[in-house]
Amino acid sequence: MKHIVSIQLDRSSDTPLYIQLYWHLKNLIKEGVLRHNQKLPSIRKMAAQLGINNVTVVNAYRQLEKEGLAYTQVGSGTYIRSKGYSSGEDKDRHKGIDDLEMMEQGQLHMMPETINFASITPTPELFPVEHFKMLINRVLDREKGNAFGYHESKGYKLLRQSVCEHLENCSIKTSMENLQIISGAQQGIDIVSKALLGFGDCVFVENPTYRGAIEVFRSRDARIIGISIEEDGINLDELKQKLHTHKPKLVYVMPNFQNPTGYSYSADKKQKLLQLCEEYNFFVVEDDSFSELNFTENKALPLKALDTLDRVIYIKSFSKVFMPGLRLGFIVVPRKFLNNIVAAKHTTDISTSGLLQRTFDLYLRDNLWQKHLDFMKGIYKERYNIMIEAIKENFPQEVKFKQTGGGLHLWFQLPEGYSANELYNRCLKKNVLISPDSLFYVGGESSDRCFRMSFAAVYKHQIKKGVEVMGNVLKDYLKEDASKIDYAEEFSPFL
Ligand SMILES: Cc1ncc(COP(=O)(O)O)c(C=O)c1O
Repeated sequence: MKHIVSIQLDRSSDTPLYIQLYWHLKNLIKEGVLRHNQKLPSIRKMAAQLGINNVTVVNAYRQLEKEGLAYTQVGSGTYIRSKGYSSGEDKDRHKGIDDLEMMEQGQLHMMPETINFASITPTPELFPVEHFKMLINRVLDREKGNAFGYHESKGYKLLRQSVCEHLENCSIKTSMENLQIISGAQQGIDIVSKALLGFGDCVFVENPTYRGAIEVFRSRDARIIGISIEEDGINLDELKQKLHTHKPKLVYVMPNFQNPTGYSYSADKKQKLLQLCEEYNFFVVEDDSFSELNFTENKALPLKALDTLDRVIYIKSFSKVFMPGLRLGFIVVPRKFLNNIVAAKHTTDISTSGLLQRTFDLYLRDNLWQKHLDFMKGIYKERYNIMIEAIKENFPQEVKFKQTGGGLHLWFQLPEGYSANELYNRCLKKNVLISPDSLFYVGGESSDRCFRMSFAAVYKHQIKKGVEVMGNVLKDYLKEDASKIDYAEEFSPFL
């Protein structure tokens, strides 16, 4: 209780007391003062100690739970879950935990023989190295040392111009003034958050969602609320219900080939989401990493293409269809936020590499981009089809999945009673890596029944072999009586 006594709440502040309490507790978890599985004081005790009412404490505990930083045991109390800020105490509980924690931080531990369905990064032989080398030389011959000077924070003018032209192909009309060049989409999410979110602001995310975004919003001390996602997009009823009780500043979505589910929004859901922006006065952050990788004839228009009211902050990465190490992307910024975004970019890294911006500009101007896209689409469509065929042949029918027709990944659901974390461990022993759903949920809401498999970093023969191995693992696993498998002790720290 010593550290609880030290908590000081500021009654004159505009920030509600429950947010202040939640924030203090979160810091104590971050600093390792409150440790994993430690019991928090009862609601009554905490309220009496701080001179606040019980509801304030309940709301603060609830907020911690929503962010996966606490859990309740019925009849016993609320306990800390320090997974996000691990002190190392719970490491090595069993094989696989270290790898899973590394995955949570976006890193993977790989052996040469590992079949990697976890990574969503293209294989390096697909990168257009020769073309790029030629173009870098052209830039250096043309600009000499100027290519290495400081650059405008907003981005190299000619590149912004060619990106605008390129955007017309996906029906986004904008001007180069509204474009901000960024060093990859991860930086885009970070810059938008830095520019627009204050302490305790609310952000809605799809649940499950991209882990890198959860970490950014957490780092800004935002309140993160998950809205479940369905095969045709975000759950609109749940979204509306939560809009009544919270006032999000931002709603972070991936309307095409969402990561991790691969699901895309129906045209109707895209329109309704835009209407809700206006009605409830929030902005949408659209993260578009995959819309070009559409293997069907149906159009996968970005939400931004339908945004007549300038409510969508559109973040585009070139990592998944080009080269992730290039660290290049852009944001189409609503007019209202232009100054905030450029200021945030400036304080982050002044500007994205001028050499790479100039080289990529030539890549677009020389019409190499479309050719490269067609090439990548061809490769990935083939890998997608091989994966679907192999799954139909090898996976038990009780394992459900949707053929999404694009992106770089598929989402699977195990029958009730079976655990994706357990499957992850069984596959790991056979050198096959998958991503269990606990990596992607906010608020500890994962069902532990789903997992993602990507075909980005695996070759055709590996897909066939890996799916066959997994098929056998799954068949053995599903033969076991789910009601008799007891994982509670071993797996609860991850969830
Ligand atoms: C949905 C999503 N957004 C952003 C990123 C980060 O992309 P970048 O390499 O452009 O920073 C990723 C990477 O996997 C992603 O899947």
